[in-house]
Amino acid sequence: MTIMDELFSVAGKQALVTGGATGIGRMIATALVRGGAHVMIASRKGADCEAVAAEINALPDAAGKAEGFAGDVSSEAGVTALGDAVKSRTDKLHILFNNAGISWGEPLETFPYQAWAKVLNVNLTGMFTLTRDMLPLLRAAATPEDPARVVSLGSVMGSTPIGDGAYSYSASKAAVHHITRILAKELAHEHITVNAFAPGPFRSRMTAFATGTDEQAQKVGSGVPMGRVGTPEDIAGAALFLCGRGGSYVTGAVVPIDGGIHVETGHELFGE
Ligand SMILES: NC(=O)c1ccc[n+]([C@@H]2O[C@H](COP(=O)([O-])OP(=O)(O)OC[C@H]3O[C@@H](n4cnc5c(N)ncnc54)[C@H](OP(=O)(O)O)[C@@H]3O)[C@@H](O)[C@H]2O)c1
Repeated sequence: MTIMDELFSVAGKQALVTGGATGIGRMIATALVRGGAHVMIASRKGADCEAVAAEINALPDAAGKAEGFAGDVSSEAGVTALGDAVKSRTDKLHILFNNAGISWGEPLETFPYQAWAKVLNVNLTGMFTLTRDMLPLLRAAATPEDPARVVSLGSVMGSTPIGDGAYSYSASKAAVHHITRILAKELAHEHITVNAFAPGPFRSRMTAFATGTDEQAQKVGSGVPMGRVGTPEDIAGAALFLCGRGGSYVTGAVVPIDGGIHVETGHELFGE
């Protein structure tokens, strides 16, 4: 076995990626399948999940397998149905990626009341409730040598006061970071790690308004300290680290995958 396999393989693991048919979720699902996992992809558009699972399975280096079906994390009934769909397929869940997310951008003065609950329901309540419901399956997969893994999508907007008109979004992501640390503390002794990604700008459906064309993406990237937007490899590397043997002792981390945005201050106190 190579050191790469020893530390980063997810062969034989069962994984669920919510929102796995598009954007960052698809990057995660692809990396996990290439790493050998059986990956369940679920979002509201079940047919899209099935189609993307077939595309991932057709990759020449698909060591594992993807499966797509419908799942909606915006309501309690939706989360319960998704949990049932997962339980009908497996009795162990080694990896849960709470990736599904939505956003809403509008100026402060006109920010709609409903845009608060709508965003919080998916980004925070959904991830918390699904994690709660998946605990029996996560416990069944967890061992001291190879813990079960929960990874939730936060954002650099949850780590820094970047509002950008997405008030409920940024607040939901800060809450994802906090609940990640709380659950990490509570579940460590059960051999379940709980971590979050805090990405900077990546090209996706959510960010298509600003990164849809190469020119737009370059413009957004030029504002990032490292000079570019994120790529599938940036997500894949972090996913395989946190989900393989190499990440077994890491919990409660909010991993910045943001090209340095969260350490920008915009000024020097005493510099020239
Ligand atoms: N792209 C970025 O720059 C960036 C940066 C930081 C964090 N993030 C986070 O990364 C995650 C993925 O976002 P993305 O950028 O890849 O955008 P995206 O392409 O719009 O992906 C969001 C995914 O969530 C799914 N989804 C939305 N509502 C859902 C629901 N009620 N139930 C189940 N699935 C639902 C969508 O599928 P359906 O429409 O089929 O439901 C879609 O696949 C989000 O949590 C986002 O906040 C993104």
